[in-house]
Amino acid sequence: MSGYEIAVVPGDGTGPEVVGEALKVLGAAAEAFGFDFETSNLDLGGERYLRTKETLTGADLEKLRQCDAILFGAIGHPDVKPGILEQEILLRLRRELDQYINLRPVKLHPGVHSPLSDVSPDEVDMVVVRENSEGLYTGRGSFTAKGSPFEVAIQESVNTAFGVERCIRFAFEYTTVTGRSEVTLCGKTNVLTYAWDLWQRVFDTVSQEYPEIDTAYAHVDAACLWMVEDPGRFDVIVTDNMFGDIITDLGAAIQGGLGIASGANVNPNGVSMFEPIGGTAPGFEGTGKINPLAAIGSAAMMLDILGETIAAKAIEDAVGQVAGSLPSLRAGEMGASTSEVGDMVVDRMMSSAEVATAK
Ligand code: IPM
Ligand code: MN
Repeated sequence: MSGYEIAVVPGDGTGPEVVGEALKVLGAAAEAFGFDFETSNLDLGGERYLRTKETLTGADLEKLRQCDAILFGAIGHPDVKPGILEQEILLRLRRELDQYINLRPVKLHPGVHSPLSDVSPDEVDMVVVRENSEGLYTGRGSFTAKGSPFEVAIQESVNTAFGVERCIRFAFEYTTVTGRSEVTLCGKTNVLTYAWDLWQRVFDTVSQEYPEIDTAYAHVDAACLWMVEDPGRFDVIVTDNMFGDIITDLGAAIQGGLGIASGANVNPNGVSMFEPIGGTAPGFEGTGKINPLAAIGSAAMMLDILGETIAAKAIEDAVGQVAGSLPSLRAGEMGASTSEVGDMVVDRMMSSAEVATAK
């Protein structure tokens, strides 16, 4: 029996509620599939910041470095200036723990309503591999003559050969091990002629090591159009931090909304962090109305990366089935409460073929 140390960061807003459901499902999966885990909670987020002015301390980081994985809810607080918690907790964690990949699957489950009216579920099944440590997210830039009519604000996109290569290589490895067939580079080579020149060159070089995998290129604007008009053309998309941020919200929309959009901040050689991409959902906290499926799906991604692949698959399938059975995936419109949806996932998982075989 393997035991895992899971650090839990419930965070702010609806984070604690959705993480609670993810832990409920993990607990049931542990029993059904014969693995063990222990959790320790870290109270990162807005409440602690308002109380202590602390965001992420050295001691927090030390604890997080020692665990096997991190389950993250959401951060953001109405009384804290936007940017502080995002920069000093979420983005800092991604960077300090060298989680250089943000993996975001975009899958439309049968029965789920997509705003794309004539799309079928098998057309929406792609994975975005978003670079998670560089680009426009490094905080580099400057103001000149701030506040004057001559002000110049510069925000720099940092792209290193090292960072770009490890991201692209991850995308090709991921495509290989998951049995997918194509990697699309999503960029803007026609305008951003330094950054995307580097990305394109590295992509061309690395792709030669994977002759069995098809390659494609899409400018990010065209990629947005095609994700809506012809999502079936995408399999694995690799892109930079900013474009990845944007296209994964679009991806979330076409798969039924943020209620089902899971993600993983991956350090393939270290501690990874699993988070629903939806945020704190202000106004819904404590109402029992928020959709926990994205958080539960993120927990399944965690099990997959920890090597509990059968349990991961069972949860993922259960999430898909429950999603398809709900009238809507939107908070307050699910026809069931947050914890009822968590129970439904446990029930489906327990009646899955995987559980029958595990017994
Ligand atoms: C995300 C979020 C974050 C990002 C914010 C909260 C800093 O939008 O995880 O997609 O931009 O990466
Ligand atoms: Mn985002």
